[in-house]
Amino acid sequence: MEFEEYKQSYVAEVEQSIDFAGQSHDFFIRVKADELVASCARQLGSLERCSVLDVGCGVGLMSRYVGEHFGELRGVDVAPGVVKRAAAHVPQGKFQVYDGRRIPFEEQTFDVVFTVCVLHHVPPAQWTSLVAEMARVLKPGGLLYIFEHNPYNPLTRRAVNNCPFDADAKLLTRGESMALIESAELEAAEARYVLFFPWKGSGFRSIESGLRWLPLGAQYFVSGRRVR
Ligand SMILES: C[S@@+](CC[C@H](N)C(=O)[O-])C[C@H]1O[C@@H](n2cnc3c(N)ncnc32)[C@H](O)[C@@H]1O
Repeated sequence: MEFEEYKQSYVAEVEQSIDFAGQSHDFFIRVKADELVASCARQLGSLERCSVLDVGCGVGLMSRYVGEHFGELRGVDVAPGVVKRAAAHVPQGKFQVYDGRRIPFEEQTFDVVFTVCVLHHVPPAQWTSLVAEMARVLKPGGLLYIFEHNPYNPLTRRAVNNCPFDADAKLLTRGESMALIESAELEAAEARYVLFFPWKGSGFRSIESGLRWLPLGAQYFVSGRRVR
């Protein structure tokens, strides 16, 4: 399994592929985690009693920052080595391996399900079923988030081309991701381009907030709400 080969060197490989951006991988993860938590809070209010599932959790980089805001954190991934590292890295969460097809939870278990930079590694023929599976484990009123690379951003394409485990990547546009949300019978909630500037500072984040419609951010997220 390809991510098994990178379970020790995952962060180093990513750092190398984004070196030109002048920021660490942790910076990009942190901005996405903040966007996700802020969006959930806008729509659900207090998150302390909410449960969250990270699908394709990898070594737990997003889980670590997102989980601290939620009452319960779970993660699943298809690669056993990364799941083991996530468990060591994020003690507050519970992480498990699954077969990439059936998420090992009952219907209507989670308030929030998110997946970050996973779909572009999944064969396109499986996108619809994976998103439907994520929607299945959402509670009514719960939110599903897809974060993905923006194929329209030339620097994103450069990072993907530089990254050895992105060799198989098939990038999705924001419209394609939103179509997947709608195919799972979720109601469109929020959609934003993010990561316009590789610099820290609340000033940059607030300018980004005004640019969220512009298809030039390095990544984007789309979200949908389960209605019933
Ligand atoms: C680029 S990594 C992203 C990891 C993490 N989400 C992050 O943002 O740091 C992609 C992850 O997707 C996982 N993956 C690939 N196919 C999957 C599937 N069908 N279901 C869940 N995870 C999958 C890989 O094992 C890998 O850990």
